[in-house]
Parts: sequence; C-alpha cells; structure tokens
Amino acid sequence: MIEPTAAVRRLATESAFEVLARAKELEAQGRSIINLGIGQPDFRTPEHIVEAGIKALRDGHHGYTAANGILELREAVAADLDRRLAVAVDPAQVLIVPGGKVTMFFAALMFGEPGVQILHPDPGFPIYNSIVRFSGARAVPFPLREENGFAFSADDVLSRITPATRLVILNSPANPTGGVTPRAEVDRLVAGLAAHPRVAVLSDEIYGQMLYDGREHVSLLQYPEIRDRVVLLDGWSKTYAMTGWRLGYGVWPITLVESATRLAINSHSCVNAAAQYAGLAALDGPQDCVAEMLAAFAARRRAVIEELAAVPGLTCVDPGGAFYAFPNVSATGLSAKELEVKLLEEAGVATLAGSSFGPRGEGYLRLSYANSTDNIRAAVARIRDWLEKRRAA
Ligand SMILES: Cc1ncc(COP(=O)(O)O)c(C=O)c1O
Repeated sequence: MIEPTAAVRRLATESAFEVLARAKELEAQGRSIINLGIGQPDFRTPEHIVEAGIKALRDGHHGYTAANGILELREAVAADLDRRLAVAVDPAQVLIVPGGKVTMFFAALMFGEPGVQILHPDPGFPIYNSIVRFSGARAVPFPLREENGFAFSADDVLSRITPATRLVILNSPANPTGGVTPRAEVDRLVAGLAAHPRVAVLSDEIYGQMLYDGREHVSLLQYPEIRDRVVLLDGWSKTYAMTGWRLGYGVWPITLVESATRLAINSHSCVNAAAQYAGLAALDGPQDCVAEMLAAFAARRRAVIEELAAVPGLTCVDPGGAFYAFPNVSATGLSAKELEVKLLEEAGVATLAGSSFGPRGEGYLRLSYANSTDNIRAAVARIRDWLEKRRAA
C-alpha cells in the first residue's frame, strides 16, 4: 500500500473549508443558511483590477514571468509600503507569490527543522501550527488573552524564547480574534528581541488595512533594529477582495531573498502573469475601492457588536481589526465545537468554533462579518432565538 510521509500526515487543515462544504450541502437540501464562517470579502474584485487582468491576457502576457515577480509589481509593492507605512523597501526584497499563505509556508521551510522551536499565537490562524509541525520543528503556542483585547503581550512571547527558538510568528490585526496589538506593546517586544539575535520574525499583516475606530497599523518593518530578520507577509486577497486570484507577497531580509526565490522556483515557478498585472492595477490605481469596502466593513462591525451585545450569556470584546468578531460563549455550557455544529444544523448559521484555532480558542466562536448588514443581524437573531429556546427547554 502506498502511504504519505510522516511529515505530510502531520499536516492539519482549516475547518473553515469543511464548514463551508457542510453549509453548501444543507443549502442544496433547501435549508436557509447564513454564512458567517468563511473569511473572505463578499465584494467583487473592483472592475479596473479585473479589466487589467483581462487586458494582460489580450496583450499577450501568457508566459512565465521572473520567478520573484514582474519588476513593475515589486516596485509598486515597495512604493505602497513607503506610502502606507513609511518604510523603505528595496524591490529586490519583494517575492511575489500565489497568495498570502505561501510566504507562511516558505518561512516554515526556511526556519523549521527538527530540534527547532517556532512560536505562534493561540488562538491563531490554524495553518501556522500545521506548517510548523510539517517542517519538523516544535510548535510553541503563546496565548492571546481576552482581557488584552486579544493583542499579543511582549512578555508572553519573550518568556517562551529558548536557545532553540528560530522564528516567532505574529499576526496583527489577527484572525480569528480581530485583535490589534498597540505600538507600545510591539515596541516592548522588539526591545526584548535585541537579546535574541538568532530569532527571526514572520509578521502576517494581511489585515493591515482593516482597522477601525482610529486604530493604527503597526508594521514590524518599521523597526530598523530588526529589519535584517523580519519577513513581512501581505497580499491582495483581503484588501482588494482578490482571494481567488491567488496573489500575495513576502518582503524578505536581503540575505534570504535568493533562498526564498529558490523555494518559488522549486514549487510554482512564478505567479500567473495576468494576476500580477491585475495586482499592479490594484496598487497603482485609485484607492477609493479600498476605502469603500472598509466603510462597509466598519458598518457591519458595528452591527455585529450591537447585535451580540443583545444576546444574553454572550460577551464580545470590540474587535479592532480584520473582519471577525470572537464572542465568549462559555456561559452557554456547550463546547465551541458543539455550538458550531448545532448553530449550523439547527439554527442555520455557519460560524467557526474558536477551538479550531488552538486550545485557547475553546469557549469562543468566530463570526466573520464579511456578509451584508441584514444577514449579520438576521444571523445573530437566529443565534439568540436558538439559545433562548434551548434555555427554555
Ligand atoms: C491571518 C491570515 N494570514 C494569511 C491568510 C492567507 O491569505 P491568502 O488567501 O492570500 O493565502 C489568511 C486567510 O484567511 C489569514 O487569515
């Protein structure tokens, strides 16, 4: 019998895709399901971006591009980072990849091996833990705490660093909690990292433009003292509603760019050429589409917070960024997974159990508010009614 390797058997998955499949099944049976499970913008990719992709194909951009991405796109990424974050990035440091996830996977391959420890947030994006374990490294979770608004704490990270630690994975604004880490805390972390010069940082800033109520995005690239060991993960998926185009980028320390590019050459060769031209139009074109989507997310966020506040037994800290709310559901007496299943099967609302993002997510649900305000209000009303009926029974 043929079998996959032990490393492949260690790979985990994202339960978001499983919940989506079950929601579709129920819908096919005629059930009404409101989907607050999947983490992708419900907007269409803005028209001028789509047109640029089509034009690229018409203009004959059908072949391979440079493995690290077309130069104009890497220059546009550098200009965008300068404009948004006031950081100077050499386009030679930019590696265009098929989606945000790829930079994460490459970082795990770059730094992970048996004997090494890699720190990641708990609750956090489930793929962090999965790919670290795949690499053979030990995954060491650090807690994100509700009482801190799910910001990471410098002490919680620094106290877990050992001589075996090679990489720390950070994510702000965060999936699944919506937590945003304030600058003072990032300052403290960076100051502490001075004592650990062999530790690299992967900063997943894919939600870096999705912040609310005047919160500021803090990029790890803004700290010159650690620039030679920071890998930035970003991309187009969330900001420009381009999840299906598969387009993302990493900014790598100049000393690692060649190795990272080799990972690209050994896996996908280069990113789809038309998608790269679409990404160029996204960065070079008008940014009102981003502002408009953000305004819609801000209104939906207010709706979800308001509705959740009216559900007896649930509490929810204000999510500062991304498009997720992470209410505490422990007072229901059900496990997060039980609640996820019952809400989907009985109340017709797709959510994700907090526990699918790590053990510290037990007692929470993730609601993605990438849905219309009406659907959000209706979904939370269904949750409230279901909980009331259950209490009455
Ligand atoms: C925290 C985080 N990082 C990275 C990604 C991956 O994005 P992409 O679809 O561009 O691979 C996601 C997607 O859900 C995410 O939530």
